[in-house]
Amino acid sequence: VNLVHLSNVFLFRSARAGLARSAALAAVAGLAMAWSCVAAMAAATSSVVHGDAIAPATANALWSVDPAFPGADLPPAGRSLFDFLVMQGDAGRETADVPFPFSALVERIATPRRAGAHDAAPVRAVLIPLGRSLQRSAAAPDFFASPRVVVSFAGETRGPGGAEVALRDRLYFGYQPRANVIEVISYNEAAGRFEFQIVSDYRAGGRAKVRYARRPVCIACHQNGGPIFSRGLWSETNANPRIAAALLREKSRFEGVDVARGIDIPDAIDAAVRRANRMAGYQWLWRNGCAASATRDGEIRCRGQTLVAALRYRLSGRQSYDAAAPEYRELVRGAMAGLATAQRGAGLALPDPGLPNRDPLLDHAIGSRSANDYAAVADVAAAYDPLTPRPALEIWPFADPDFVARQLVAGIAEFFTDADVRRLGDQLRAAAAWNGAPRRDVTLACDIGVTRREAGQQRIAFACSAADAGTQRRAQLQGTLLVDGVRIYGGSVERLGFADDGAGTDALRNIAIGGGTFRMRRGEVVATLRVARDGTPVRRGDGHAVESIRLTWVPPHDAAKAAAPALRARGAATVTLLEDFAPIARAVSALERSTQEGTSDALSAQPFRRASVLAALDREIGLPPARWCCVDDRALPPPAVEERAALAIDAGEEAGEERVFHRYCALCHRSDDPAPPNFLNGTPAQVRANLAHCAQRLHVRLAMWERTGSERTKTPMPPLATLHGAGISESAWRSAEDLSTLRGYVAKLLRADGARQGGTDALLRANYEQLRECLPRAG
Ligand code: HEC
Ligand code: HEC
Repeated sequence: VNLVHLSNVFLFRSARAGLARSAALAAVAGLAMAWSCVAAMAAATSSVVHGDAIAPATANALWSVDPAFPGADLPPAGRSLFDFLVMQGDAGRETADVPFPFSALVERIATPRRAGAHDAAPVRAVLIPLGRSLQRSAAAPDFFASPRVVVSFAGETRGPGGAEVALRDRLYFGYQPRANVIEVISYNEAAGRFEFQIVSDYRAGGRAKVRYARRPVCIACHQNGGPIFSRGLWSETNANPRIAAALLREKSRFEGVDVARGIDIPDAIDAAVRRANRMAGYQWLWRNGCAASATRDGEIRCRGQTLVAALRYRLSGRQSYDAAAPEYRELVRGAMAGLATAQRGAGLALPDPGLPNRDPLLDHAIGSRSANDYAAVADVAAAYDPLTPRPALEIWPFADPDFVARQLVAGIAEFFTDADVRRLGDQLRAAAAWNGAPRRDVTLACDIGVTRREAGQQRIAFACSAADAGTQRRAQLQGTLLVDGVRIYGGSVERLGFADDGAGTDALRNIAIGGGTFRMRRGEVVATLRVARDGTPVRRGDGHAVESIRLTWVPPHDAAKAAAPALRARGAATVTLLEDFAPIARAVSALERSTQEGTSDALSAQPFRRASVLAALDREIGLPPARWCCVDDRALPPPAVEERAALAIDAGEEAGEERVFHRYCALCHRSDDPAPPNFLNGTPAQVRANLAHCAQRLHVRLAMWERTGSERTKTPMPPLATLHGAGISESAWRSAEDLSTLRGYVAKLLRADGARQGGTDALLRANYEQLRECLPRAG
């Protein structure tokens, strides 16, 4: 069997077992070190099998993205969408050019750089003064003077060189002006994952620097490896009237974002985040699901037939594709059925990108504190904390291969933009005109109901059907038509279904009638309807175009009856199909062959890449090459990564106890970055001083391991997923000697500073935000 990725999965399992052992045995093998080796390996695949003791939340299911394995900081392949947008000038290689202020950056991205069919891409932005992000305390105590701005994009644009760039669901900003930092999450097409980046020194007169972030830090909260967001009602945002009122006391606009906006905007961001969250699941099925077929040939053809079905589905307006086609059943559904038998666990678990709704001002109103002191309400209780591990949002059960195959097809379909689909439709139509694609008529019998309105207007309802003797299915056509004299001016086809094999499983619905003609011919009424979606032909689930629909009926001979306000008649419908999908089916077959021969990698076990697939299809169809974004990164300057601070521990000066901090905490708390607090940065003496300053909060975060679940008021440290990544289970950690060492060290610090620090139990009862800050504030 050649299950590339799945064998990686097993490689992982043994690698991790090895790590668990080394963590237990070796004294100096730091978590950070174990980590970097896991991270390097994680670059090879995107998910791992869960050991039973390790992931109670998703017993026996695989994660589409596993928070225990964030992957390498730098992209394992390709680059982020953001890099392509800010680093690639029209002339090629350039350094990052991130316009300031923020509104200029957003506008630059949304505005197409070359004229075309595009308007500016829609931008959705909210303001979050008291949030849960890594930047949440940067503006303290003036939270409302400098709210965080969160931005997502919809639609598509034209980027450098005029290439079309899909922005929808793929690019997000989190900007806190006080921190001079923009956090960026954007999709990496070639690697099939979201990248986490930081733009630092982002201010007037600054030299903005773009770096890949320390991924383990981001993934501690972004457990799904992508964007996360509050669930409705989004009470942290300016959609909450009380938040908006407090912001309006400062300004009516921040960074180009109006305070006075309703919940439709956070709702749209939430929806984008949810869609983005599923991309990893689709990629997993594309790579590993197809790899569960019995042969390599089957694996490649599974991807080819998924692609055909996905294109049909999009061309039909996301309404139908042929789930009964023999190739689809054998190759796509068949491969997914292989997942259940290949002992891949019970299903694919999708992480939860949603955080419980939190209203930071709820307590503020009731309390007697001064109206402008928000420090106390800034605290994030464990139940609301994005650091708290979230159980799977849903599990796609491998026992239901029809369902899993449907997820895959509908998901791959979402990687194409609306413009891609329009363009493909246009190409098919042009090729049909050129090649003389065959036409075919389908006839149905109809009930026609005519209602006359004032001034020669009529409303005509039609309900047609025809049985197909071969398949026992019925073709059907239902809708209404609005006629003014001899002109059809509106109406819609509510349902259009076909009985023939291959037509697609589901009927087409809600097709607008865009016009047509209405006339009498030899005593018969002939209505010819023009149907289209977005200016391109309506297509059914086999990809073929519905070229026209003609209705005919004979009105009563009696003139008085014919002019009655309402009448019924029997009639007929002829649906003319233009069978023009063949070039795509042929191009995909050719792509399957070239992937088998190794001359293309479009259908290989790599992530699904829209640009590679469309470019290859164009080639096979014989179209001139177009410019595509964002797979080929040769024109970009090399990527930069956020530096981790040097290992002071190498000097060997650390006492044993401080080493334990380095081992478990350095991954996230030793860097030049102030968030999360970098208390392990500096010389051994500085680190000791930092730990002493942070002692109160260290105590709380470590003491939380004594409690479980809902008894925890704060999230314990280190994050559970990090322990899992090193092969340490929660129960093992709670009784680990290293944990007592850490706690003992902190207890000593607190005792040494007794009077000022307060009793340890009092610390656990106090409002966390009113404890001494972990590190003194800079400046
Ligand atoms: C302490 C938890 C936490 C950490 C750690 C964290 N984030 Fe976030 N992040 C959030 C939360 C919560 C949101 C959504 C609400 C908000 O922005 O206030 C968010 C939102 C974002 C957004 C806006 C898009 C979205 O997901 O809604 C970006 C971009 C972002 N984070 C980037 C990063 C990067 C890059 C890192 C690593 C350097 C990081 N985050 C680390 C909690 C965190
Ligand atoms: C995988 C990354 C990661 C590791 C490993 C990690 N932390 Fe954290 N830590 C974070 C993040 C993220 C935050 C949240 C910051 C926030 O809420 O804004 C945090 C917050 C904290 C805080 C609270 C800081 C404050 O200002 O309130 C303390 C204390 C802390 N960690 C201690 C530790 C200790 C001790 C260890 C090791 C035993 C550790 N952490 C390991 C990521 C990590």
